[in-house]
Amino acid sequence: MSAHIDLNGKVSIVTGAGRGLGQAYAVALAAAGSAVVVNDIDADAAAETVRTVTEAGGRAVAVVAPVGEAEVADALVASAVDTFGRLDVLVTNAGVLRDGVLWKMSDDAFDLVTRTHLRGTFTCARAAAIRFREQGDGGRIVVVGSPAGQHGNFGQTNYAAAKAGIVAFARTWAMELARAQVTVNAIIPTAWTQMTATIPIYAPLVDAVEAGEALPRQVRQAHAIGMPEDSASLVVFLAADASAEVTGQAIGIGGDKMSLYSHPVEVATAFHEGGWSPELIAENWSTTMAPMTQQYGISLPELDLPDPAPKAS
Ligand SMILES: NC(=O)c1ccc[n+]([C@@H]2O[C@H](COP(=O)([O-])OP(=O)(O)OC[C@H]3O[C@@H](n4cnc5c(N)ncnc54)[C@H](O)[C@@H]3O)[C@@H](O)[C@H]2O)c1
Repeated sequence: MSAHIDLNGKVSIVTGAGRGLGQAYAVALAAAGSAVVVNDIDADAAAETVRTVTEAGGRAVAVVAPVGEAEVADALVASAVDTFGRLDVLVTNAGVLRDGVLWKMSDDAFDLVTRTHLRGTFTCARAAAIRFREQGDGGRIVVVGSPAGQHGNFGQTNYAAAKAGIVAFARTWAMELARAQVTVNAIIPTAWTQMTATIPIYAPLVDAVEAGEALPRQVRQAHAIGMPEDSASLVVFLAADASAEVTGQAIGIGGDKMSLYSHPVEVATAFHEGGWSPELIAENWSTTMAPMTQQYGISLPELDLPDPAPKAS
């Protein structure tokens, strides 16, 4: 029988917890016993998550502010400490998309996405790390990557870069915070939310999901798309004592699937005494490196879904 996960006495912050995955993380952490600071820029959405938690008997408080700058990160940690007495878990989930191909991407679209994801994760984690080191009894940081960051994705210069950077944060902070017994892991979630519902291949499923039907098994397994609650279990595990030895990892979770990502490794090596000239590289490329050149971009198996019903005009 597996051990019961109990987060009683713990205090968590979840950014972007007003809807989607963040809301599921906050609700699941609270259901396991943690008090939760619910952050979002949308006040109504944050209040709704707080209501859901408290009506189920949990403890939660809302902090309505955009993550990105240090002041907001400090306010989140202060809210955890002032309201619930301490901080144990930080989940940096808040996110936005502003897609566009490189040659059409505006500075504003780049800055908003990197400020929210990359700078938001950095500032919140720094504030949490300071608090964890002061408390002296460990802590948990769960940061959020994406398949786009792991593989690259068409039209997502800003998002893919931010998400790849966030996984690099986890590897770096796992080293820096090991002595303080703070674990740092990146999760790579995939779930049906307002973000995924706009992806054209899933259009045939929108009406069924809105009617409360379960996602087809093929979608839950081949594409690892489930509901946000499916991904929340990993966050609860990473917040718990049971994951004390898990750090520096990038872990995929969605639908019926859980996976562990490799970190980048050298897949081909060649040596030439005295170094490599461009001519030598050209001469040797086809035998040394070409057989191992890497696939890039997200590649998913085709789904056998019904054609989308034509929308009434
Ligand atoms: N849905 C997926 O399949 C998927 C896949 C990979 C990664 N992710 C990541 O998971 C996270 C949550 O995604 P989701 O699908 O639930 O998105 P969502 O759009 O449903 O929810 C994101 C929430 O973040 C809030 N938010 C936006 N900017 C904010 C800011 N500056 N400060 C505080 N809150 C802010 C929004 O108001 C919203 O409530 C994101 O980091 C996203 O990139 C999601």
